[in-house]
Amino acid sequence: MTDSRHAIAVQIHALVERYFALGEVPGARGTARIPLHVPSYGAEEVNEAIASLLTTRVTMGEKVARFEALWAQYIGAGQAVMVNSGSSANLIAAEVLRSPFVPRPLRPGDEVIVPAVAWSTTYFPLVTIGAVPVLVDVDPDTFTLDPPAVEAAIGPRTRAIMAVHLLGNACDMAALGELARRHDLYVIEDACEAHGAQFRGVKVGNFGQMGAFSFYFSHHISTIEGGMVVTSDEKLADLARTLRAHGWQRDVRKKLDVPNPGIDERYFFVNFGYNLRPTELQGGFGVHQVDKLEEFIRIRRENADYWRRAFARYADRLRLSPGREGGGSRSVWFGYPLTVQPGAPFTREDLTRFLEGKGIETRPIMAGNFRDQPAIRLFPHRIAGALPNAELIMRQAFFFGNHHAIGETERAYVRECVDEFMRRFA
Ligand SMILES: Cc1ncc(COP(=O)(O)O)c(C=O)c1O
Repeated sequence: MTDSRHAIAVQIHALVERYFALGEVPGARGTARIPLHVPSYGAEEVNEAIASLLTTRVTMGEKVARFEALWAQYIGAGQAVMVNSGSSANLIAAEVLRSPFVPRPLRPGDEVIVPAVAWSTTYFPLVTIGAVPVLVDVDPDTFTLDPPAVEAAIGPRTRAIMAVHLLGNACDMAALGELARRHDLYVIEDACEAHGAQFRGVKVGNFGQMGAFSFYFSHHISTIEGGMVVTSDEKLADLARTLRAHGWQRDVRKKLDVPNPGIDERYFFVNFGYNLRPTELQGGFGVHQVDKLEEFIRIRRENADYWRRAFARYADRLRLSPGREGGGSRSVWFGYPLTVQPGAPFTREDLTRFLEGKGIETRPIMAGNFRDQPAIRLFPHRIAGALPNAELIMRQAFFFGNHHAIGETERAYVRECVDEFMRRFA
């Protein structure tokens, strides 16, 4: 860079720092007093992105690679492959399982067990690869797959389990792992809402053949849009890299053993592929965000602990999630969920309307019971049983925001509002 260009870049950098040093950006949390989510980035991320733009090195490169290495290290997984969203991470994980380069690839019509409560793009990637999602009930306290229900749903065509660590709660990976071993099933972890969640001392993303994370704006940390596939298997990571970028082998560690009949190596296509690449701007965000994650998690856990203790007195009216805690497990609280007990003297809508009126945003638990979503008619699927807990969650549960911008004052405000509501039904 020439001296004058460098001098301008230094000024821009300093101006961005001054801009963010003025405090919260007006309008950043919308109109709500307690929004569902707030931005997680500041001057470092913006300056990193601007530096990429100013140098014009904007397509996937060194910063993405650096974030991948940091994420692999944070999770404790051998390999991490960044993509442009959590949905893309799920798609790659599913595609790897039908690749002819894995042992016993999934075939059209093979079944994959999924929780009935998850996100739409937990299911759609399975449909894309021709698999049949089997919707199974969840545990009403952690919102994650109920292992006995999984066991009951396993049939002759079942080949895999999609373990979704919903709302920051790890699935019971001991029970699911045992079922997977016994029935020779692949396991994919959809950890899009569970950055840093642990099951018995091990971070989620390490239990299945592959794990998927989302760095969408509203998640624990964010690259605006973005996602990551993690795996401890180098070959699966390389397959993910080919699937991410057109099916070619340009950035793999070890080339697949496919004879080349004299085609230019740079344009040699060995596998199926998409274009799911992130940009350097997203990689640059990630490099800074990963350092902030543990502090964000600490705040979320402190808030959840406070609300759990504050609302325990309403146990006959509100079912509280204990999270997945104890014995080295930890929840990272994507939001704070409440389930209105069916016998309560008010409806869920009474409570959410009241909270919204107080500036506390609320929303349903992800896509609810996906059995009832019209989109399910568009693809072959199987429903395993009556799904009573998914039904309970769909009709009676909701969550409000739990994030790093909620401190002592904000969490006390939420408690006061719930107390005020409950006094109406004394
Ligand atoms: C459980 C789950 N899976 C997948 C996704 C998709 O992630 P993305 O929005 O980054 O595509 C989400 C998004 O919030 C999610 O919550």
